[in-house]
This record gives sequence, C-alpha cells and structure tokens, in this order.
Amino acid sequence: MKKKKGRRSAVMVMLVVMLVLCGCGTRQKLPARKTDGKIKIGVSVYDQYDAFVAELMQDLNDQVLGAKAEEKQDIVLEVYNASQSQTKQNEQVRDMIAANFDVICVNLVDRTAPTEVINAARDADVPIIFFNRELVEDDLQRWDKLFYVGADAFVSGKMQGELAVDAIQSGTVDRNGDGAIQYVVLEGEAGHQDAIARSESSVNRMLELGVKLDRLTYAIANWNRAQAKTQMDKIIRQYGADIELVLANNDEMALGAIDAFEASDLPKAQRPLIFGIDGTEAGLSAVCDGKLEATIYNDAEGQAAAIFHLAHHLALEEPLRDLPLVGDKYIRLPYEKVTRDNVLEFK
Ligand code: BGC
Repeated sequence: MKKKKGRRSAVMVMLVVMLVLCGCGTRQKLPARKTDGKIKIGVSVYDQYDAFVAELMQDLNDQVLGAKAEEKQDIVLEVYNASQSQTKQNEQVRDMIAANFDVICVNLVDRTAPTEVINAARDADVPIIFFNRELVEDDLQRWDKLFYVGADAFVSGKMQGELAVDAIQSGTVDRNGDGAIQYVVLEGEAGHQDAIARSESSVNRMLELGVKLDRLTYAIANWNRAQAKTQMDKIIRQYGADIELVLANNDEMALGAIDAFEASDLPKAQRPLIFGIDGTEAGLSAVCDGKLEATIYNDAEGQAAAIFHLAHHLALEEPLRDLPLVGDKYIRLPYEKVTRDNVLEFK
C-alpha cells in the first residue's frame, strides 16, 4: 500500500524522469506546434463546486507548478467552469480552440452529448482529453486524438460492498438480528457512469458474498452533500432506527447522510454504518473521526498526473508509447480501500 504523500513524490520523480527522457524543456526541443515552446492546456469542468473535481483540479495545478519549477517550462493552465451547462461548455471549448490552446481537457457536463466538442476539436486538429465523466466508446473512437482518463467505477462499488461485508461479519451491523441488512443507497447523478456502476456493483458484491439484503429505499442526491442531507432527513423520518447500512456513491453524499443523523434525535447506538467513495479530504477526515465507516480512494492525484502527462505529450506532439494507454485511448487509475486502519496513509 503506497502512501498518498509517498505517491505524490513518486509522481514527481516519474514526471522528472519522463521529462528528462523526452528531453522536454531542453533547448534542442522543437517548439510546440502552435505556441513557440509555450504549452497551453485548457480545461472545462462540469461544475467547479463538485468536491472531487475541485480536488482533481488542485492536483492538476500542482502538476503544472511542479513541471514549471523543475523543468523551467512555460506552461499555461486555464480552467473554466461550465456551471452544469453543456451549451456553455461547448462555447468554452470553441473559445479555447480560437485562443490556440494545444490540448483541451473536458469534464463533460452531459456525457451523452460530446458531439459539438468532438467536431470542433477535430475541425481544428486540437486533441481532447475527456476525464471523470465518461463518454461512450463509440464517441471516443470517432477521432484518433480523443482520450479518456478516469477509473473503473465497477471496482469501486465492488470494494465498497466488500468493506460493508467485513463490517457485517464483525457483527455490528444487523442490529435487529433478523439475518438481513436493511440498507439505503444514496446515488449520484442519474445517468452518470459512476453512479450506475457503483450502485449496482456494491450490492451485487454483497449478495455474491452471501449477505442477505433488504433495501428500504434509495435516493438520488447528485453527488451533493446538502442534497444528501435533505434526502436522508426524509428517509430517517420514514425508517428511523430500521436503517442499518447506508451505501453512498461518493463521500460528499455520505457526509450529507452523517449530517442528517447528527441532526436527528436518533441515539448513536441506533444509527447505521455509512460507507462512501472518493477519499476526499473531508471524507478521509470523517474516516479518521470514526463518523464514516470506510471509503474507497478514487485517485484524483493519479488522474491529474495522467491528464498532465498525456496533455504534455500531445502538446509537444511526442509519441505516446511510454504512457499507460489502453487501446490507445484510455488511462484508468486503480481504486484503493480506505478504513480506519490505513486512512493515515492517504492523508
Ligand atoms: C466522483 C464524484 C463526483 C463525480 C463528478 C465521481 O467519480 O466519485 O464525487 O461528484 O465523479 O463527475
């Protein structure tokens, strides 16, 4: 198990090694295609207030600062907020193309509507790195300069299910002793690949491992803490102490559920175990405090490093063979289980 901080320095070392190997930043290097040696990376995020995406952007900025400091490279990173509007995001992409960005990274608002982005990029020959919100493969195959960086959400759900089973086997979850676990699922945005995959695979994994489950209800809370609190307030009014387990598709919604239980008059002994996914700063702190039973680390730092390395190569028109691309298109970072026993390794 690698430490997150350890990983940060490992990433830096890898970056430096790669830059040295590529000769990037040396005087012999040919100037970048459109920018006289300056690398311009543009990003459009679906919503800058999304906690996970905000941490990913912070990590991407750190990558750029690291490369600028260590390699004296002239790199510009500009991040635009699409504020949950695909129309606005399409305009931002067109504006970035007009402003001669070398590579554009797109966190799609609507992952089923990438056509305008793809057509504009292809017409202008500007590569696109999609990230976090995954378009269907047919769309990604429409041009050879389209890429995706993310993670395999099925694995995160499976891991969440396994952690819940560990807790159930330790005997603390089935409070009413009926041999089944009364549970609630808090889901991310309808139609988001991670919400669909996580809801399905966490429950399926628990069933596979022989746990009897009894779903009380589910609620869509759009990845959002406040919405999750509102939904959980209602669920607590309806089911109260019957709720034994809460599976949240991300940490923010798990934190919203915790907020709701803390605001309720249910005594601690009658509250469920709550599981999240992401390992955001707030999520990890809640695991440390014992409020969140466990989470799954969604490697924002690794995804940011992958986006940066890919963008860097594309901007300088370097061969991509030293990058861990699958099918010439995808880079997916692994998830890791985080419990109270190992949480400090991620802080
Ligand atoms: C993360 C969520 C985030 C969503 C945004 C997911 O991978 O787990 O926390 O809100 O991506 O697209």
